[in-house]
Amino acid sequence: MSSAEGFERRSTARRPPAGRKLLLLEPDPSLRQRMLDALDERFRVVDGESQLERALERLSDLGVEPYDVVVTDLQLGARGGLAVLRAAREREDRTATILTAAGGSVQDAVDSMRQGAFDFLPKPFEMPELQARVDRALDHARLVGEVRGLRAERGRGQARARIVGGSAVLRDAVAMAERVAPGRTTVLITGETGTGKELIAGLIHETSPRRRGPLIKVNCAALPETLLESELFGHERGAFTSADRLRIGRFEQADHGTLFLDEIGDMSLATQAKLLRVLQDQQFQRLGGSRVLQSDVRIVAATHCDLEAAIAAGAFREDLYFRLNVVGIELPPLRDRPDDVEALALHFLAEFAAEMGKPLRGLSNAALMRIRQHEWPGNIRELRNVMERAALLAVGGQVAEADVGLQQLGRELARWRPGLPPEGLPLAEIERAVLLEALERTGFIQKDAASLLGVSRRKLNYMIQRMGITHSSWRINRRVD
Ligand SMILES: Nc1ncnc2c1ncn2[C@@H]1O[C@H](COP(=O)(O)OP(=O)(O)OP(=O)(O)O)[C@@H](O)[C@H]1O
Ligand SMILES: [Mg+2]
Repeated sequence: MSSAEGFERRSTARRPPAGRKLLLLEPDPSLRQRMLDALDERFRVVDGESQLERALERLSDLGVEPYDVVVTDLQLGARGGLAVLRAAREREDRTATILTAAGGSVQDAVDSMRQGAFDFLPKPFEMPELQARVDRALDHARLVGEVRGLRAERGRGQARARIVGGSAVLRDAVAMAERVAPGRTTVLITGETGTGKELIAGLIHETSPRRRGPLIKVNCAALPETLLESELFGHERGAFTSADRLRIGRFEQADHGTLFLDEIGDMSLATQAKLLRVLQDQQFQRLGGSRVLQSDVRIVAATHCDLEAAIAAGAFREDLYFRLNVVGIELPPLRDRPDDVEALALHFLAEFAAEMGKPLRGLSNAALMRIRQHEWPGNIRELRNVMERAALLAVGGQVAEADVGLQQLGRELARWRPGLPPEGLPLAEIERAVLLEALERTGFIQKDAASLLGVSRRKLNYMIQRMGITHSSWRINRRVD
């Protein structure tokens, strides 16, 4: 029944409680079979593998339940068992991993345990010994699972209660966030400004086992390159002129917690390279320091930028993108989920009415109509601000159309329309024309043009590079011979 390719088997005999899954990675076919036979009746699902790659694939499959117990040989290739251990913990840190090794040294055992293995079993071993260790692992996984379940339920209730809206797209995003929360998988949240990216990041942290640890947020767009690096990694005293004290970076602070890297699309290429290194080996150094530090951090990143366009323009590293986007959650703009508008408006109204101590009963029909018809370029944040203002202005028990105050903006948007010729026009040409007009109007000062167009300087800059626009006043671009 065994083959060199490895195989899968599901036991049909006495079925143990649901949810028990075992992954066994052992290259020797006859030993593998004996181990499977010894462990079979303890599990509902038993997956046997002979190859490292296949085992890693199974472990990272988000479409199926995670494993409760993993038993793996340590010496697959160059100590590949540790890769299995890492992948198992990344997916679900409740998974108990037992490493086996022929001639395993004390150092191997210590290393394995340090990296989070549940147990270490030197080869050769008798089957009853294996069974006893696996029973302990199962007990452990079950206990941790129970405690975790209770805590997560509480956390989820609180965090989820803050998320309003019943549209299918929002529900999908929330479901995905909750599904990946238990592990360490890196998550990339994308969406326009004000669509709730930070809220979802909070939900992931709150429903994860890390909720007892810190949730640390860094806005990558807010700081220039060197400051951002010392913010992230810290610096030693004297690392640069103004570094008169040692500084603990955000990576260190977020140990055992979640690090939320907001506006990651605005990070410079040099900092991206450093971040990539940290993500690869979980190790970093403070600026000006030589000690290699380690931190157990779950990364959640967010951006309003189109990272694929940024990659095409050479402004974002593709390898970093793949590292970050292990799981992607996209939050659609409010205009694509009209069903959420009313629920959100009423939610914010109730919130502000309570805060202001005003007995408000809701919105007039005309006010509601106005809100439904608005395009919401600022998304939920804009809606929230509009409702705050409305709650403030409303007299009597209800918000009237005039309190909503969206007329003016609506008219402005309606006034400007780019002329689309009957035969159509590439969108890029419109972009280029508008960009040039903004640059001309601001005397080719990129900062001012960016603010006219409501984009970050960085984004404007890479649009300019992508379109190959140059101007004599941009001296930095000129070569000095
Ligand atoms: N589904 C929701 N239910 C309730 N409040 C929401 C929801 N989505 C967003 N909000 C609120 O809208 C505001 C903007 O959300 P958030 O800060 O998460 O957006 P963002 O995507 O991070 O925006 P930006 O890109 O501008 O940082 C916050 O006050 C947030 O609490
Ligand atoms: Mg945000």
